[in-house]
Amino acid sequence: MTSVTLSSLKARKRAGEAFSCLTAYDASFAAIADKAGIDVLLVGDSLGMVLQGHGSTLPVTMDDILYHTRCVARGKSNSLLMVDLPFMGNPSRERLLENAADLMRAGAEIIKVEGEGWMADDIRELTRRGVPVCAHLGLTPQSVHQLGGYKVQGRETDAAQRIIDDAKLLVEAGASIILLECVPASLGRAVTEALEVPVIGIGAGPDTDGQILVMHDILGISHGRMPRFSKNFLEGNASIEAAFRHYHEDVLARRFPASEHCF
Ligand code: KIV
Ligand code: NA
Repeated sequence: MTSVTLSSLKARKRAGEAFSCLTAYDASFAAIADKAGIDVLLVGDSLGMVLQGHGSTLPVTMDDILYHTRCVARGKSNSLLMVDLPFMGNPSRERLLENAADLMRAGAEIIKVEGEGWMADDIRELTRRGVPVCAHLGLTPQSVHQLGGYKVQGRETDAAQRIIDDAKLLVEAGASIILLECVPASLGRAVTEALEVPVIGIGAGPDTDGQILVMHDILGISHGRMPRFSKNFLEGNASIEAAFRHYHEDVLARRFPASEHCF
């Protein structure tokens, strides 16, 4: 298997081929996911919820993310390694650049930032300095209190148009990937068709170029309620590797997500 890169993901988008993404937080699971063919591994700040037991991602620090990035980087070989910039990781341009440098030195190959159009200048600066960026739009969990809960975003026409405009703006600024969380399937499709860069979805319908889920959700071991957009892939599979492979194959064949996982 050859290594996954930004250019190979872009080529797959052009060819109409889907790709799979999954969160990973340590070397052992990263190695299994990599072996199962998962294209992109994300050290997500969801670790604050699934590993640390918090009710949101807000308490996650740079040190937490760096620790888990180093662990995952040691376990993976072919998958592309994406890493979250944690809450308030960009209080100033200078701190953003320092934090991004630390994440890249720890093994990140692309950095994911949550935000809207205002992120454009930060993204331009990171990209100019050789740091590829994924811009996370739609439901941005670091803004959960501002949003008033984990709710579907972009349901109204104005809000949907704002997400399309922001995605275009951030790609113009240099974003290499857009990630859309919890938006109507029609919006997931519109953003994917409007952009040349790959679009990854979670709860964004079946038409995005990539799909991502939280590892603990697909293994059915997350505490609390399972999100509607997720699916337990361990059910009916005899091992974790088989579950990851089943997820990967279902994404590539566009069998996942089915209509019951979409908004
Ligand atoms: O932190 C995370 O796991 C994420 C994904 C759910 C997209 O940001
Ligand atoms: Na995240």
